[in-house]
Amino acid sequence: MKIEKNKSLKNNNTFGIDVRAREYVEIYDEEDLKQLLSLSELKDEPKLVLGGGSNILFTQDYNGIVIKNSIPGIKIIFENEKHCLVKTGAGVIWNDLVLFAVEKNLGGIENLIAIPGTVGAAPVQNIGAYGEELQNTFHSLKGIFLDSGKEIVFEKEECKFGYRESIFKNELKEKFIITYVILELYKNPQPVFNYGPIKNELDKLNKEIFSIKDISDIIAKIRNEKLPDPTAIGNAGSFFQNPEIDKEQFLELKKEHPEIPCFTTPHDKVKIPAGWLIEKCGWKGKRIQNVGVHEEQALVLVNYGNATGANILSLAQEIKISVIKTFGIELTEEVNIY
Ligand code: EPU
Repeated sequence: MKIEKNKSLKNNNTFGIDVRAREYVEIYDEEDLKQLLSLSELKDEPKLVLGGGSNILFTQDYNGIVIKNSIPGIKIIFENEKHCLVKTGAGVIWNDLVLFAVEKNLGGIENLIAIPGTVGAAPVQNIGAYGEELQNTFHSLKGIFLDSGKEIVFEKEECKFGYRESIFKNELKEKFIITYVILELYKNPQPVFNYGPIKNELDKLNKEIFSIKDISDIIAKIRNEKLPDPTAIGNAGSFFQNPEIDKEQFLELKKEHPEIPCFTTPHDKVKIPAGWLIEKCGWKGKRIQNVGVHEEQALVLVNYGNATGANILSLAQEIKISVIKTFGIELTEEVNIY
């Protein structure tokens, strides 16, 4: 285990922001981690766990130790006629797990294909796309408290999952590191394909029955067309969450903007696509020096090269102000800002 000092994090965040960590270490198993946490000189040092760095915006150097979680391995640990439990190391690339499942015709995560990041980061914000969310297949996870080094298992109900929410993003932020995630996948997949654009593309295939491979191929294609590839243009996917508003406020907005898109929620609120609000305020495709709003998806902010976190943050602030002025809706960031 090698602790590096004053390490650039440019290649550790998909925005490509060039900040430095006071210390940096990569861990490959739980033993590495326990050994690291037992070092007395690190006891009081702030700790930041990084997976793929695809949901983070650095605005300054990190004055502590960055722990890059690279725990590997995908393993089927239990199966019966209907289900399969798959245990995966937190450092595995999320998309590799999806490809593993699709190849074995194990259903449940095919709609989450091509989401950047690692398996360990997936429960933190309960990743979701095209009508599916991680929590629908989540079984449990294993992890370690950063202060005590104590191991613990979290069952699904204990994770407090919500829309892009979990206990790991809130109460346990910077206190806990996920080491393994166990998902329950289905041997008789029940594909979810009601989300508008998927249904249209599937109709073109002219098939009676769709495989999860059909669905994951279509979703990967839609994502590739709409979302910028972070290896080409720095970005962190959706920068903001889709806001939820009261029905009354929604009906008022609809009077003025009859075309406003919306999604219903289980708790009597209405969810509005933030991308639509931002586009309506005229931001889509706009570029200010080295930062901008993506041309195909207004929810994605991009670094055209050498931007600082502060440049991105100031664009985000301007967007938030104009959305409040125009619609009276306050946007909340989806990315973690450091
Ligand atoms: N829209 C616009 N303009 C835009 C973008 C979107 O008008 O620039 C409107 C359109 O009406 C469209 C609707 O918003 O029909 C929904 O757009 P889309 O299907 O692209 O989904 P989204 O709400 O913008 C969410 C997730 C994405 C996820 C997609 C697909 C959030 C914050 N974002 O985006 O997640 O891929 O749904 O399920 O919930 C991510 O988290 O990084 C991410 C990309």
